Amino acid sequence: MATFAAISDHDGAETLRTLARLAAHKILSKDKQGLPADPRDAIFAAEYIRECDRLLANTPLLVQEAIESAGHAAEGANVDPYQGVVEVLQNAEDRRAREVRVTLRDGPTSKQMLITHNGLPVEYEHVLAMMLPFVSTKRDDADLRGRFGIGLKTLRRICTDIQVHGAPYHFGSTAGVGIREREAEEAIAEFYEPATDTLLVLDLEGDFDTSSFEQWFEEWTDDGLIFLDHVRRFELKHEDGRTSVRATKATAWVDLQIRDDELTRLQRRTVTAGDRHY
Ligand SMILES: Nc1ncnc2c1ncn2[C@@H]1O[C@H](COP(=O)(O)OP(=O)(O)O)[C@@H](O)[C@H]1O
Ligand SMILES: [Mg+2]
Repeated sequence: MATFAAISDHDGAETLRTLARLAAHKILSKDKQGLPADPRDAIFAAEYIRECDRLLANTPLLVQEAIESAGHAAEGANVDPYQGVVEVLQNAEDRRAREVRVTLRDGPTSKQMLITHNGLPVEYEHVLAMMLPFVSTKRDDADLRGRFGIGLKTLRRICTDIQVHGAPYHFGSTAGVGIREREAEEAIAEFYEPATDTLLVLDLEGDFDTSSFEQWFEEWTDDGLIFLDHVRRFELKHEDGRTSVRATKATAWVDLQIRDDELTRLQRRTVTAGDRHY
């Protein structure tokens, strides 16, 4: 029995790995036909990331250099240094998150910023889009805020490395154009729950100024959340355990007018931020 179980486990694992390589080829070829459903499995995820890296490594060096330069161009030297954090908030909104949380900690090689949200999980089709400049899965979706595929790149203004944890996908960039699996992050009480949350871990630049970041957060008013439909709470957990919160409350949508066709439906709702109503 044990031997039989071992054999069928082995077959199951091999099937998942084959499926992962197929999925990677399709994503890199932009072949939307017959994309496999995401099995949300650790064996699949690891092989998917490995295969994406292999395929990237096989692109001509000249093209890799162009991708790297595109990444630098996308960093946006003339945007606010913390614009990347706003981009993560918008990506969380696109994944219908309710809450976005930020904290800082001392990492193994540098200070780190952790940003987590409780929206829809990372799927395999998002993995390379999160690492490569100018790759977006949102081009055809007018309801989503992103489009150009450069939002996350603006994080590079403040960090030297970006890791993404959306179980079972745990990955980060490599030197040059590549992607590598990273070790999963443990749960962090009242901050990150691996079963439901997506987490970004950023290795911050040596000159990162914690007090200037905290001040930026304090000055960022609740109004910044008004135009988000899903994210209602944006909080910063300070290293001393205090939490600063930006939050809004929204009423349900109320119909003002409906014509026979749903196309001309007018609705209203009130969003409250502090003592202001919209
Ligand atoms: N929290 C997330 N969950 C899943 N996928 C994400 C998340 N954030 C970003 N992505 C993926 O990474 C891509 C690039 O994000 P970004 O650089 O902000 O550009 P854009 O939002 O314009 O597409 C997105 O199109 C999406 O596929
Ligand atoms: Mg975006």
